[in-house]
Amino acid sequence: MAVESASELKRKDVVGIASLQPGEIQLILDTAEELLEVARRPIKKVPVLRGATVVNLFMEPSTRTRFSFEMAEKRLSADTLNFSASTSSVSKGETLVDTARNLMAMAPDYIVIRHPNVGAPHRLAEVVPASIINAGDGINEHPTQALLDAFTMRQHFGRLEGLNVVIAGDIRHSRVARSNAFLLNKMGAKLRFAAPASLLPAGVEELGATTFLRLEPALEGADVVMMLRIQRERQAAVNFPSAREYYDFFALTEERLALAAPHAVVMHPGPMNRGVEIDSQVADGERSLILDQVTNGVAVRMAILYLLAGGRGAATADS
Ligand code: CP
Repeated sequence: MAVESASELKRKDVVGIASLQPGEIQLILDTAEELLEVARRPIKKVPVLRGATVVNLFMEPSTRTRFSFEMAEKRLSADTLNFSASTSSVSKGETLVDTARNLMAMAPDYIVIRHPNVGAPHRLAEVVPASIINAGDGINEHPTQALLDAFTMRQHFGRLEGLNVVIAGDIRHSRVARSNAFLLNKMGAKLRFAAPASLLPAGVEELGATTFLRLEPALEGADVVMMLRIQRERQAAVNFPSAREYYDFFALTEERLALAAPHAVVMHPGPMNRGVEIDSQVADGERSLILDQVTNGVAVRMAILYLLAGGRGAATADS
């Protein structure tokens, strides 16, 4: 299954992987590969978004996604405005749509949004003319994370097609798992989920993964092992007896990683809970691509911003 790259991203918004075509995913990854070079220059800036304004609207905590978007925007020479729920009039009861309409009155070109509610970016995309980029909506999707994960896998293995990818941990509350499932299925990878039954979502069979209730059999022959943290902030009930017991059955240790293919790599979207879902020796080991994921996130987000602008000008042209 060879995926042919689209010639352009003919859309206003990137709200999820579910709505992207395989050719568009390929185009984003190819463009990010070109833009990765910008980070190696003494002056890490290209002028392709000069004069454009990006609002970063983060209604949930974030370290990687927020700073990665801001760095991508600055490297493309855009003007950036940062907005957080706790210091804005959202704390006085203003709705998302009213907030967005007021921001639109200042004519931004893009809004990057992270929101606890499923579908918030999709709703915003319908009511404002700015391009909307989903930086994570509740338990639904985190499309830019899946794209940077795919970029990192492709950078390491030279392909996505046919890779055996294990995603293990709290699949039920993970927008990263959902976006990765959509993307890896579209690009021809083979997906396995490993989690206790209480941390698998209803309708998991629709996500195109082979499901395992123990980690060890899922790891056999895996090329990529992606660990997820337990999202306690999204769980009203306790879905496992204790962190200690979870570690005993589901943590990625060096012994368990030895069950994967000899060339297997380890990934994690962050934030990590060391000693719960992953051991420090594995997280910091030579097979870990965790910090490569963070580096690549900037190039992938630059590619999305650039392509949504219509890809005007050569992506890597100097100022
Ligand atoms: N991967 C990820 O979304 O991390 P942050 O929550 O720190 O943005």
